This record gives sequence, C-alpha cells and structure tokens, in this order.
Amino acid sequence: MGRPQLYERGKDINQEFADMIPVATPSIGEKELEYVCDAVKSGWISSQGKYVQQFEEQFAKYCGVRYGASVANGTVALHLALSLLGIRRNDEVIIPALTYISVANAVAYTGAKPVFVDSDPYTWCINPDKIEEKINRNTKAIMPVHLYGHPAEMRKHTGQNIRERRWEALAI
Ligand SMILES: Cc1ncc(COP(=O)(O)O)c(C=O)c1O
Repeated sequence: MGRPQLYERGKDINQEFADMIPVATPSIGEKELEYVCDAVKSGWISSQGKYVQQFEEQFAKYCGVRYGASVANGTVALHLALSLLGIRRNDEVIIPALTYISVANAVAYTGAKPVFVDSDPYTWCINPDKIEEKINRNTKAIMPVHLYGHPAEMRKHTGQNIRERRWEALAI
C-alpha cells in the first residue's frame, strides 16, 4: 500500500486515500523537498548535519531557552522529558485515554504507571473535569496531549494551579 508522495489538504490525494477520512494530512511543500534532498546529497543522513543544528538553535530561540536537543522521534522526546523530570517507578502520570500508544509507552519506560482519563466529547482531548479525581500522592505529572491539532483545555491544570493546590505534579 503506497502513500501519496506529495499532497496538500484537499489536493492531489490519490484515489486510494480519496475514499478515506485521514486523521491528519502532512503539508509538504517544495522547500521541504529541497531541504530533504540537500541533506541526503550532503551525506548527513544520521546523527548530525547543518539542518539538525539549525533546527535545534531556531527551536530553542522560539521557545526562549538556551539549548534545544532534537531526537529521532516523538516517543523518545516524551521518554526523555519524563526522565528529566525524575519520573520513576511507583510514580503515576495522568494521560488521556484517547491518544497514540507511545504516550503510555513513554510513561511505562520510566517504570511509572500511566493513569488514563477519559476524553472531552467536544475536543476529544483529555477531559479537564475528570483529572482531579485521578490525582493522588503518587501523581507526578499530567500529560494533556493536544490531539489532531486541537489544543487540550489546560486552564484548570497549569503549573501555578497545581502548586497552589499542593498536588506536587507537573503539567507537561
Ligand atoms: C499524540 C502522539 N504522541 C506521540 C507520538 C509518537 O511519535 P513517534 O511516532 O514519532 O514516536 C505520536 C505519533 O503519531 C502521536 O500521535
């Protein structure tokens, strides 16, 4: 089963995909193709290269921090973030029931327990009203997950709110 090589939302989707409702469609333009070809031709197809450095620097600048570190995929990024927060065995991390499996996997890799919270029927993201009932003394983090480009409602569970309530958890 081949994937279309290049398509934009609503345009140039081949027949196989035209019959489906995609969960997400990538937006890949000429610039992206040019840079990918340039990277491949340069021989830097692993570990480093000018695009990796450029990405890390620009992303750090965008986030207003000194350093940025890129990793191979989203699962590694989540695992790394949890490890850096010191999440470990016997801790609990609250995650949405509807998300990609790697969110739960990343929690499990640290030895902690993923605790599932049901979705908000409107956003499909984690239901903010159902989080509190899952919080206990082992809860160390809440991973809200902004699914399918829709931001999860986080106002109730900001870092400040969590500190005020002495939940000792961190929203990441
Ligand atoms: C919500 C979410 N989190 C994490 C991941 C994991 O990303 P990766 O496949 O790059 O490890 C995905 C992948 O689809 C995802 O949809």
